[in-house]
Amino acid sequence: MPAPSLGSLAVIGGGVIGLSVARQAARAGWTVRVHRTAEFGASWVAGGMLAPHSEGWPGEEQQLRLGLRSLELWHDFLDGLPVELVTARESLVVAADRADVADLRRVADWLSAQGHPVFWESAARDVEPLLAGGIRHGFRAPTELAVDNRAVVGALVGACAELGVCWAPPVHDLAEVAADDAVVIANGIDAPALWPGLPIRPVKGEVLRLRWRKGCLPPPRRVIRARVHGRAVYLVPRPDGVVVGATQYEHGRDTAPAVSGVRDLLDDACALVPALGEYELAECAAGLRPMTPDNLPLVHRLDARTVVAAGHGRNGFLLAPWTAEQVVSELLPVGVQQ
Ligand code: GLY
Repeated sequence: MPAPSLGSLAVIGGGVIGLSVARQAARAGWTVRVHRTAEFGASWVAGGMLAPHSEGWPGEEQQLRLGLRSLELWHDFLDGLPVELVTARESLVVAADRADVADLRRVADWLSAQGHPVFWESAARDVEPLLAGGIRHGFRAPTELAVDNRAVVGALVGACAELGVCWAPPVHDLAEVAADDAVVIANGIDAPALWPGLPIRPVKGEVLRLRWRKGCLPPPRRVIRARVHGRAVYLVPRPDGVVVGATQYEHGRDTAPAVSGVRDLLDDACALVPALGEYELAECAAGLRPMTPDNLPLVHRLDARTVVAAGHGRNGFLLAPWTAEQVVSELLPVGVQQ
């Protein structure tokens, strides 16, 4: 006999966070409805890096801890989803020029001093022969992963549907949700429209998709990251090419890929891996990261029936399993009261 439902739960937002919460809540025994648009927003544009070490920065120890906890949870999170969702199993962060070596070394030493598995390399091209000549130094983060973001959201939609999760149109006011439903606000940059005062702002990022063509060198097999002329760039493998990301600047809700952003990403990607110059430029897009002032996500109860799960900034995919776990345990007292 199926377990009785813990109650009815409205998840507002159908990106990676909303879908992950919905799947976990349905598994826990909630009757779940996801309010979403036809688009996946930032989750569709993302690179899909699960990269707490290479996103790490001295002073952001709490972000690092959360990221590492969630990376661990990804292994179970992938259970029941197709294995080909993982597109890389290591990151290589390199210094594109001599001036970057000292900065990168400082980050690597900060991580190593805390016992994290990152390994300094002084012959980075032995690790990744596709790198441009002249790139020598960097560190490997062998426990980091990357996933195919679009395949992940597709797989989560399928998993939710199998668990009986229902789909509903987006909500513009919490009063539209039945008063006795529990609610999870998981709609990224739109969360403050539902709960004024949530400190989330959109931060634009252009992202490109380059497709391998016959006769080209194959795509790299690990994530490659660097700063080129002071700009951050990353290359994330896909079975048919690479995702190149990302610019980062505030421009309201503008999601038009700007020429200058696209040009910089192409220049920087080819400065790292010249062979990419022969690939097809398959897609230019821009997403809006839901950023918070301290770069930590907002995952907590707001009132007796409402929990927020938003503001994941640069790390929505990485933090999805941790968020789902947190939200479902946060919801439990409400369900038990019902
Ligand atoms: N996750 C990397 C970015 O937001 O560009």
